Amino acid sequence: MAQSPLPLPQIRGFLETQRRDRWWAMPLFTFLGLGAFIVYSTWAAFQAGHYFIGGPTQIGAQELLSPFYSPVLWDAPGVTSGHAWLGPTPSWWPAWLLMSPALLILWAPGGFRFTCYYYRGAYYKAFWADPANCAVGEPGFRGTSYRGEQKFPLIFQNIHRYFLYLALVFIVLLAHDAWRSLWYLGDDGARHFGLSVGSLVLSLNVVFLGGYTLGCHCWRHIVGGRHDCMSCHATSHKAWTRVSWLNSRHMLFAWVSLFWVGFTDAYVRLCSMGIWHDWRILG
Ligand code: FES
Repeated sequence: MAQSPLPLPQIRGFLETQRRDRWWAMPLFTFLGLGAFIVYSTWAAFQAGHYFIGGPTQIGAQELLSPFYSPVLWDAPGVTSGHAWLGPTPSWWPAWLLMSPALLILWAPGGFRFTCYYYRGAYYKAFWADPANCAVGEPGFRGTSYRGEQKFPLIFQNIHRYFLYLALVFIVLLAHDAWRSLWYLGDDGARHFGLSVGSLVLSLNVVFLGGYTLGCHCWRHIVGGRHDCMSCHATSHKAWTRVSWLNSRHMLFAWVSLFWVGFTDAYVRLCSMGIWHDWRILG
């Protein structure tokens, strides 16, 4: 067979490529999708309000809490959500410092997503063209000392497995919120079962985030990847097979869960503002 030798490395100018497909489509989608989410979630986190409905005195409303604000350590000033673990804003909190429950906790799920192996590959391409896509020329401004994740600061991406442990705790907490969303305050002062559109929105949020979290590469390694002989560990192998199913759909769950967690916050926010109404389907 005839061979045509190619010199290595292939030096290309920025965005230069021989690819003829739409290699720019996915980075562009990532840039727009992730960019929109970052803008919205940052805005929502700084609002410090409209993060729940169905508080301790709201008769007839399901208990819905925005996932951006869960868990609530302290409520925002002047707010009583009924979800705060430690009560109202403490008296020692400086008056000049914005107190938003979301800002206290969002670093954990945010850090988990930011350090995710899939997202890293996606946003390196979309946000700083490293490279813009496979076999596409990189910008030359980084110079020869750039070593990506081998050096500071990107070497800190290896912290991902520890964010995974936190993310697993968040799934349990959000599942608890979904359970609470199935109850509303009746005229008699007791909580009664009821299924509303909001309960479904919160429950689906747990399903999608769970699918994303349990499809994590680190989790796959933890449940089965440590063994040299997989067939010798039947339970591990079974769990690994199931996690592998999610792992092979990790990108899908990454985007669906990203969209849905943002939508869930928007749903709770709009209901809390009285723009939308949370319709009860059952109960
Ligand atoms: S690799 Fe994506 S969440 Fe861990």
